[in-house]
Amino acid sequence: MTEELLHALTRLETWMRQYMKSWYNEAEDIQQAIRMKEEHTARVRGYARELSEHLGLTGDDVVRAEIMGLLHDVGRFRQFTVYRTFNDAQSEDHAALGLKTIAAEGLISNLPEKDRELIKFAIWNHNKKEIEAAPDKTSLMYAKILRDADKLDIYHVLEPFLHPSDGSGVSPDFVDRFVAGEQCDYTMIRTMDDRKLVRLMWVYDINYAWTMQRVLERGYVDKIVSCLPKGSAGIDEGVRKLRLYVKEKCASVDKAE
Ligand SMILES: [Fe+2]
Repeated sequence: MTEELLHALTRLETWMRQYMKSWYNEAEDIQQAIRMKEEHTARVRGYARELSEHLGLTGDDVVRAEIMGLLHDVGRFRQFTVYRTFNDAQSEDHAALGLKTIAAEGLISNLPEKDRELIKFAIWNHNKKEIEAAPDKTSLMYAKILRDADKLDIYHVLEPFLHPSDGSGVSPDFVDRFVAGEQCDYTMIRTMDDRKLVRLMWVYDINYAWTMQRVLERGYVDKIVSCLPKGSAGIDEGVRKLRLYVKEKCASVDKAE
């Protein structure tokens, strides 16, 4: 016997709502962090649905993406409460933590094996530097959808925390990577300005024009660029390349694969 996906989504929505509430805390800083992730979860779920519909998916294929969005950060609640940080390097990989909860609670155990595998693969890969070798095209597509939905909202969540350069500057190897259009190792972040550059470089990891158009429209690229240190030829060159890349990506045509 397997559950229909839509029924599973309804059940998981109720479970998630109660689970997230169960982490509410009287300490204001914890409560704020929990609420932030609660709201992030709802938006990522919505983006996962919108993006998959944009790609031409229908029925169960859209519901599957929504389930991934709903569950992708289930590990965040325990992570913050136990470690008081969302930094995986300083605590635990929150995707791994989430998958442990999903298994312990039997959240997807009633679903067909194929759905379980797709959901686990997408969640495991949502926070990694890059998607690991995918067993098939469908697994890769869902991992890409979830990563885009997540990134789009992270840009929104981080916006209020963006400030002009504090003078710490960007580490030279980060500038080199930026000019080359490559991703940086998060664990190598040394300054506040490094952190901003890493966020900006996520743009190169956006999979779909749909997502890029939203990132551009909402001004996230301009906002981060305006907060970078001024007067660095390397950064200026990197920004020029990045803007060109964004423009090309926005003009590309998305396909569901
Ligand atoms: Fe996450």
